[in-house]
Amino acid sequence: MRTIYMLGQKESITSWYNVLADLPEPLPPGLHPGTKKPLSPEDLAPLFPLDLIKQEVSTERWIEIPEEIQEIYRLWRPTALHRARRLERALDTPARIFYKYEGTSPPGSHKPNTAVAQAYYNKKEGIKRIATETGAGQWGSALSFGGACFGIEVKVYMVAISYHQKPYRRIMMETWGAKCIPSPSQDTKAGRDILAQDPDCPGSLGLAISEAVEEAVSRDDTHYSLGSVLNHVLLHQTVIGLETKKQMEMAGAYPDIIVGCIGGGSNFAGLFLPFIKDKIEGKYPDLQVIAVEPASCPTVTKGLYKYDFGDEAGLTPLLKMYTLGHGFIPPPVHAGGLRYHGMAPIICHLHKLGLLEARAEHQLSTFKAGVDFARAEGIISAPETNHAIKVVIDEAVKCRETGEPKTILLAHSGHGHVDMAAYEAYLSGRLSDYEYPEQKIEAALSYLPEVEE
Ligand SMILES: Cc1ncc(COP(=O)(O)O)c(C=O)c1O
Repeated sequence: MRTIYMLGQKESITSWYNVLADLPEPLPPGLHPGTKKPLSPEDLAPLFPLDLIKQEVSTERWIEIPEEIQEIYRLWRPTALHRARRLERALDTPARIFYKYEGTSPPGSHKPNTAVAQAYYNKKEGIKRIATETGAGQWGSALSFGGACFGIEVKVYMVAISYHQKPYRRIMMETWGAKCIPSPSQDTKAGRDILAQDPDCPGSLGLAISEAVEEAVSRDDTHYSLGSVLNHVLLHQTVIGLETKKQMEMAGAYPDIIVGCIGGGSNFAGLFLPFIKDKIEGKYPDLQVIAVEPASCPTVTKGLYKYDFGDEAGLTPLLKMYTLGHGFIPPPVHAGGLRYHGMAPIICHLHKLGLLEARAEHQLSTFKAGVDFARAEGIISAPETNHAIKVVIDEAVKCRETGEPKTILLAHSGHGHVDMAAYEAYLSGRLSDYEYPEQKIEAALSYLPEVEE
């Protein structure tokens, strides 16, 4: 019985899919943080190369992947689509569970799909350095790898709590030649201001973004790079879903439910966007798309759909998204990559249009799901991915109860080999749940920027 569906390298994907061409209603534009007018390409030029700025606003359906990027993708792509037959058996479910596994990339997650592309376009524009932030360290290590591929210097501001919890990620970054420091840091005004108020601040993605953006705008040789949220990042990730569509065809299946975890939304969007095209076009109107986030950082399930900054200090453009407030510092759950106050505007827009639903899960239940998955399928998953696994298991158990043989597709965003301290805490009973931090979120939402809509 077949468990792996592989594409040959000759069948590799050669263009990314841009959902902006097919949205039933256009995406609300990003706004300049000062004038609050729609962003112009010049506004973004200090941060990003022109090719990426063009991709950010393009409505072309297909965007060709340059050969230089495809050459690097071929180091690990196409990735395998797996049928989780042993998990199905363990759950005694009639559901058919598939997972697209991105953990075989050099840094171990989906992140290099965009890191390599971003490094390439920066190199093409003559940029020598890139500054970025990282949560769990997956993005920082992916961009360090991307920088190494194209000879670009990379500086990573890593959220302090993860920097201390996950030293091996820092060492991976250094192995690829990057510099990684904990955020908040003394290197920027944004970092110094926070440290003056709270010397033990655990940091947040929003704060680390402020530091990286501040560094990029203050140096001519340095650009900024974001590992999620923005349209061009989601675009690069569609290589995942485009491969999966071909592989599902090989398996003679089409998903009833697609599940993924969302931090800024990029791995999940990468998988489901090529499928949601079929839902928008009415070919598969019942396709269910379920995004999973932490209960302690419930951006889509509890946030407001408003314009907000992408970072703590208010340096980035304003994006219309679900937000918990840019000043919200989420509790230190181990899924560092899901600790973000905002969400990709594309994901939020699709949620508003009723094309996608969201669920929030507590940390302990996600680790239980991750351990069940590891014992059935072998793969030890990233704590972020465990959120999606939890919902896949819930849906498969529902199928056991109703007898429906649904096809469930999981976006498996990465392995957890560098997260063993989190597993140890779980296995030894030292891991706890964090309550939904209602008061902190209320406080952060009380000072959203004022924007006329
Ligand atoms: C393994 C893994 N999955 C998921 C995420 C969440 O990010 P995104 O929603 O952009 O995929 C991260 C972020 O660091 C990650 O490392």
